[in-house]
Amino acid sequence: MSLEVKLGDIVLRNPVLVASGAYGYGDDYSAFFDNSVIGGFVTKSVTPRPRRGNPHPRVAETPCGMLNSIGLENSGIDHFLEREWPAVLEKPCVPILSIAASAAEEYAEMCAKAERAGGVRAIEINLSCPNVKEGGRTFGTDPRVVESILRGCRRETSAFLIAKLTPNTDPVPIARGAEAGGADGLSLINTLLGMAIDVERRRPKLAMGMGGLSGPAIRPVALAMTYRVCRTTSLPVIGIGGISTWSDVVEFLLVGATAVQVGTALFSDPVAPIEMIAGLNEYCVRHGHESITGVIGALESGDLILEGVHA
Ligand code: FUM
Repeated sequence: MSLEVKLGDIVLRNPVLVASGAYGYGDDYSAFFDNSVIGGFVTKSVTPRPRRGNPHPRVAETPCGMLNSIGLENSGIDHFLEREWPAVLEKPCVPILSIAASAAEEYAEMCAKAERAGGVRAIEINLSCPNVKEGGRTFGTDPRVVESILRGCRRETSAFLIAKLTPNTDPVPIARGAEAGGADGLSLINTLLGMAIDVERRRPKLAMGMGGLSGPAIRPVALAMTYRVCRTTSLPVIGIGGISTWSDVVEFLLVGATAVQVGTALFSDPVAPIEMIAGLNEYCVRHGHESITGVIGALESGDLILEGVHA
């Protein structure tokens, strides 16, 4: 029984990846599981220049989820490629570099720098961070801008380019824009813009007022968006959003995702990926699949659902 899936020519030992922002640069959960267990991970997004991030508090717990407003804190692409990237490349799984920027040229320039640094096989283009004014909140919702960002990146690198889409608009036109610009794959969803208030203090719980909602609360939204995007593209899709158990992974695979990313689940269950991988194995055996690829897109009545108003 094989859990292997492919993103282009890249073979993942299984479809469970750890999401950007939940895993640092691949060492954050080394006390709980080894990188040789998971399919891969996505680095915290790096930006053209260092960023200190947003003021605290930056996280707040919500029913079945959490809000974050980190503000893309990181040391900048130059520092990252020099100091962190060599160790990232040593990890025994597929590392995916995540980049975020505020202009199309900056994305392309970062791709060129990554290409020069060497070893980069896949880049997730973060078009969807809701926590920076000049970022995904604005241009990640415009298909033409997304297309031009991808086009610029495509010129600079032959790495597998994954466009990470925002849920804060209809993702289908954005997915089409990314594909037209040369994306090799899509990942969705990033967090949903949300807010929580401390009623005694009469202030938002996050210093920035609003932030990105993640966790099981958003999973049905993420699943529906993943389903719709999978029906409109032939590119491999990576499902993200509140995935916490092996059966959540199966849900995303059934609607057509090739792989998934796990993020917020790690905060409450640091061994969640191990349990997911074991559960996927058992599910395949129980359903007579020799390969997990037999589960991808195997939703019964998948076509009928689109006949209604949601198409
Ligand atoms: O605020 C943050 O750093 C979050 C980034 C993201 O959701 O892409």
